[in-house]
Amino acid sequence: MTIETFLGAKIEAFDPPVRGDPITGDRYYTREWAQKEWDKVWTRVWHIGGMAADLEQPGDYITHNLVRESVVMLKQRDGSVRAFFNACKHRGYRLAWNEVGGGDALTCGYHGWKWAPDGTLIEVQDPEDFAGGNPCGKTRLEEVRCEVWGGLVWYNMDPDAKPLRDWLGIVAEQLEAWQMDRMTRVMAVTSDVPCNWKIIRDNFNESYHIPTLHPQIASSIDDDYTDTVFEMFPDGHNRMVMKGLQPSGRYPTVDIVEAPLAEALACWGLDPEEFEGKASKARRAIQVQKRALYREKGYPHYETLNDSQLTDYHHYTLFPNVTLTMWPDGAQLLRSEPHPTDPERCIFDHWFMAHPVEGEEMVIGPNGPTKFEQVDREFIPYGTATLGEVADQDLSVAVGQQEGLHSRGYTGGLLPIQEKRVQRFHEILNDLVDGRR
Ligand code: FES
Ligand SMILES: [Fe+2]
Repeated sequence: MTIETFLGAKIEAFDPPVRGDPITGDRYYTREWAQKEWDKVWTRVWHIGGMAADLEQPGDYITHNLVRESVVMLKQRDGSVRAFFNACKHRGYRLAWNEVGGGDALTCGYHGWKWAPDGTLIEVQDPEDFAGGNPCGKTRLEEVRCEVWGGLVWYNMDPDAKPLRDWLGIVAEQLEAWQMDRMTRVMAVTSDVPCNWKIIRDNFNESYHIPTLHPQIASSIDDDYTDTVFEMFPDGHNRMVMKGLQPSGRYPTVDIVEAPLAEALACWGLDPEEFEGKASKARRAIQVQKRALYREKGYPHYETLNDSQLTDYHHYTLFPNVTLTMWPDGAQLLRSEPHPTDPERCIFDHWFMAHPVEGEEMVIGPNGPTKFEQVDREFIPYGTATLGEVADQDLSVAVGQQEGLHSRGYTGGLLPIQEKRVQRFHEILNDLVDGRR
């Protein structure tokens, strides 16, 4: 059956079949699985290396460490960005140690070899002492595929990978509306969470947990799955669109105006009292107001957004491990990566990239009002400080799930249809690790 969604899409078009492969527990804790993922997945997909805005001058660099690998991405004289494995060709010392840095050359901390931003060796100690002659100008760092898109620097270790835009496909086309390349990263926290990276992916690939883990959002986000769009795209990416500024249709409170919705109505010049008993009409009314007032209120980035994008949460999962939740005023990135040595831990990132609002010093992010200024990534040891209210709620169950998945009592998952994105994620992963993709 074909269902027309509130976005006008025919659901059938984005609803590929799944096989029902068991989602086994071992994939969440064995080293064998982790190694297969490294060989067949992580070394073949596009990764977000960091923010393009951190690369201002030629020679500026950013680094990204992934499992035991590290990649350094450098700004070139012509404005482009090139990436290299972050290891000296002399005897392997890691070259760049900071996440963000820069200079005329990358200087190795061991014997002082210098590498130009284009990866060429330019200075060595005792150049006459090499059997093949001075290696400067002849030896280069190992290059890695690199592209800049959406204000982000991406890299891919597979020389045969599809270009980034081909791999993102329809997701890139849709994301253009939010103009991510004009956003600034105003929040970036990273933590080491004691669970496998896929536990976090599974969670962000379903909204079934929202009523139990995030009951506070029901007053302003409609978590009713029958009114949510779920779409699955080629290459494992997917989209979920959840109506915002509309109370959840799951409860009899659907027409009661509560605080967050009342604030949004007031912010856009509407009287919350007029919506008492008909809160479900607020979303459309705010869309109309935003369309009428966005310029004078300092939100020029609304120019390219459609009605749904003005109020709703467009939640994209990029295979395998990145979620970009697009809000009208920014993009929330949630990413989990494997821990360098322990399959039962992962590295979790929570960033927010925002558009400026004219005349405002603060923007609204996942942690509420947030100063509009560019920030570096901050590492927070897990459990020592909040990673964001909703993220904390999500992670609160991850550790317990890691335990339960070791049990003989867990036999492979029993999923409702609305969790189909979880099933598809694991089937694509199975295909990759088994060499079928
Ligand atoms: S390992 Fe880099 S100069 Fe020796
Ligand atoms: Fe959640």
